[in-house]
Amino acid sequence: MPFHHLFSYLEYKLNAVDSHSLHSPFVFNFYQNILKGKQNTEVFDEIESYRKALLRTNESIIINDYGAGSQVNKSGKRKISDLARSGLSSSKFSRMLFRLADFLGDGEIVELGTSFGINTLYLAKSNPRAHITTFEGCTESIKIARGLFDKAGQSNIKIIEGNIDLTLDAFTRETGRVNLVYFDANHQYDATLRYYHQLRPLAHADTIFVMDDIYWSKPMKKAWKELIALPEVTLSMDIFDAGLLFFNRDFCKEHFVLEF
Ligand SMILES: C[S@@+](CC[C@H](N)C(=O)[O-])C[C@H]1O[C@@H](n2cnc3c(N)ncnc32)[C@H](O)[C@@H]1O
Repeated sequence: MPFHHLFSYLEYKLNAVDSHSLHSPFVFNFYQNILKGKQNTEVFDEIESYRKALLRTNESIIINDYGAGSQVNKSGKRKISDLARSGLSSSKFSRMLFRLADFLGDGEIVELGTSFGINTLYLAKSNPRAHITTFEGCTESIKIARGLFDKAGQSNIKIIEGNIDLTLDAFTRETGRVNLVYFDANHQYDATLRYYHQLRPLAHADTIFVMDDIYWSKPMKKAWKELIALPEVTLSMDIFDAGLLFFNRDFCKEHFVLEF
């Protein structure tokens, strides 16, 4: 773990609180039921079996990665198992995304960074009437994700292939409101803020933005601090692995660092 990441983690641990310190009924219920929810369904076992298969395979793919550090395009041959181990979130986090999408109900969900589609499946399985649009630039990862979506019989997912820098604009022009955006693609400062500002006009009062890897680098931490300071962000939650942004004007601006 790089020193800045370790330092951020210690800082997070010192500040993080649990439900005992939460006085707002919305934040208390959200924490108990969504962030720390205990719900279990056989859907989780199904998706985890796909994750396990990715972790076990000896196959490699050629990746074209436009993500963090992408000024030097990190293209090359990589083992699928290594990518699955280092690039995907924990299943605990995936289950939280499932509960979040379930909580937000029918409507549009956006994921930036499909990879092999594990979290896309969690989002899509949460509600058959939700519609997921997921963005990915790596052609061979998309092939694997498509295979998983077919295997899982999932028809509420649309993949937008290509560099998000080039594909997001057309999507935002054609799309109305979005319930949930999961930012997990290009973890660079500029791209994070740019994608946020492109998607923000699609948010409504109950929309939630989930920003992954807010402590991945110093520039990501800076981007996170700037986002939570925006006046339009009326509530924010830091769970270390990610940050959640809310826009409901009924909230008085507050920020929470929460044990996850
Ligand atoms: C951390 S992985 C996503 C993991 C996935 N959300 C999950 O948890 O199952 C990040 C993905 O974003 C993709 N990506 C990064 N920058 C991108 C860009 N500018 N355009 C398109 N895809 C990008 C990478 O190819 C990679 O597959």
